[in-house]
Amino acid sequence: MIKMNSIVKCFGSKTVLSGVTFEAKENRIFGLLGPSGAGKTTIINILTGQLTQDEGTFETGAKPFETGLMLDEDGLYPRLTCLQNLNVFADIYGISHEKSHEALKNVGLTEAAKKTVLELSKGMRQRLSLARAILHSPKVLFLDEPTSGLDPATARGIHKLIKNLSEAGSAIFLTTHNMDEAVKLCYHVALLHQGVIVEQGEPAQICEKYGAIKTVPDLESVFIKLTGVELE
Ligand SMILES: Nc1ncnc2c1ncn2[C@@H]1O[C@H](COP(=O)(O)OP(=O)(O)OP(=O)(O)O)[C@@H](O)[C@H]1O
Ligand SMILES: [Mg+2]
Repeated sequence: MIKMNSIVKCFGSKTVLSGVTFEAKENRIFGLLGPSGAGKTTIINILTGQLTQDEGTFETGAKPFETGLMLDEDGLYPRLTCLQNLNVFADIYGISHEKSHEALKNVGLTEAAKKTVLELSKGMRQRLSLARAILHSPKVLFLDEPTSGLDPATARGIHKLIKNLSEAGSAIFLTTHNMDEAVKLCYHVALLHQGVIVEQGEPAQICEKYGAIKTVPDLESVFIKLTGVELE
């Protein structure tokens, strides 16, 4: 279970999270939605122990090596091939290199196994980051904007993979700017605006509340209705 309770985070004099509370159930896909600068990556960084909160508590139900993380900056080794990148992590986790092949296959990168990261397109790099995050079959997976900047077909492939991982038993916490993506994937979403959760619930309920009947409202119009201000 991934849980945050009244988390406050400041950078200098700037408060970027002001009492964030939510609960994500095990083995389901939870979506954190919000515009740029809302505090989504900061929340993932706190949940994965890369940043320390100023106030509040959290739990993820997973030990560090049971967690997978895909951040928006990819952090891959540019001069190593896809396979070598994954093997470095397989060695760190103490798992067989066979898992690297498996992960590449799962993200559709088998053909690119011997290409260096420098030779990959953005979508391919993104898929390699995902392969690295799922390499050790983590119990809890954090995905920071897993499909941002991808073409619709590649994004659909990643959606399918995320669903499969969830069905195989991983708890998934993802961030997105995209309401459509949340509707397709998530059982529950929280909308974050300037470090405050302004709405939570099932995506369908939120669409019904803020959108026209049977259409998915875009995230911006939901936020305008919620906060009365246009996003920058
Ligand atoms: N290390 C840092 N030092 C100072 N301010 C920071 C730091 N990291 C983030 N911030 C600020 O905290 C706020 C939230 O940033 P964060 O990266 O969590 O937003 P985000 O919702 O992930 O945005 P995006 O959708 O653009 O990725 C922003 O105002 C950002 O400028
Ligand atoms: Mg971010």
